[in-house]
Amino acid sequence: MAGNRDTMWSHASYELKKMLELIYETPRGHFLEIGAHMFNMSIALYLTSAKRGKVVTIDPKLKSPERLEIMKMYAGDRFTFLEGLSTDQPIIDKVHELAKDKLFDLILVDGNHTYEGIKTDTELYADLISPKGYIVWHDFFTIGENCESIHGRFQGVNTYINELRDKGIPVKDYLEETSCIAYIKGDEWISSQK
Ligand SMILES: C[S@@+](CC[C@H](N)C(=O)[O-])C[C@H]1O[C@@H](n2cnc3c(N)ncnc32)[C@H](O)[C@@H]1O
Repeated sequence: MAGNRDTMWSHASYELKKMLELIYETPRGHFLEIGAHMFNMSIALYLTSAKRGKVVTIDPKLKSPERLEIMKMYAGDRFTFLEGLSTDQPIIDKVHELAKDKLFDLILVDGNHTYEGIKTDTELYADLISPKGYIVWHDFFTIGENCESIHGRFQGVNTYINELRDKGIPVKDYLEETSCIAYIKGDEWISSQK
């Protein structure tokens, strides 16, 4: 997270709008978020999900037991919080099991923002994207006005995304003001991996 964040959503409003535009292009049936933080985005994902849509979100730390309790009451098994690192084997196994029934329409990579972290998360989970879905990497920055002061913090994300591009994988980005997301449509990701 960085930039002009709306405290309710933990994302700048223009960035949230772009993510919602992407999400609304998908069937909105199954979402995976790596990095739950306070469940702000997880709850937004739940609210935008289609009828019977499901959200799975991962974080090593349960930061808002109150919100999780509410979501359990409100959403039941449509909202799953997995407590642990995205790299923990039980978490990896669980997410892959959940994806067996239905691939993910959104994979939001927003956990460990180091180069190794984002690379590992992408390698572990990106292949669970549905052809009609989107993979979104949060906090990708293009060097530019307003970005340079915070660019260094997320250098790893930037380096990794550019590495994917160097391999010919058509990752797009959306930059406005201080923050930027990178994204790719599921079918493009799938064909780039063949
Ligand atoms: C930027 S915040 C996530 C914000 C959230 N996605 C949102 O939009 O509201 C990053 C979160 O990732 C978590 N995190 C760090 N490494 C992780 C990992 N390997 N697996 C899962 N979560 C991780 C941190 O504890 C932190 O809560």
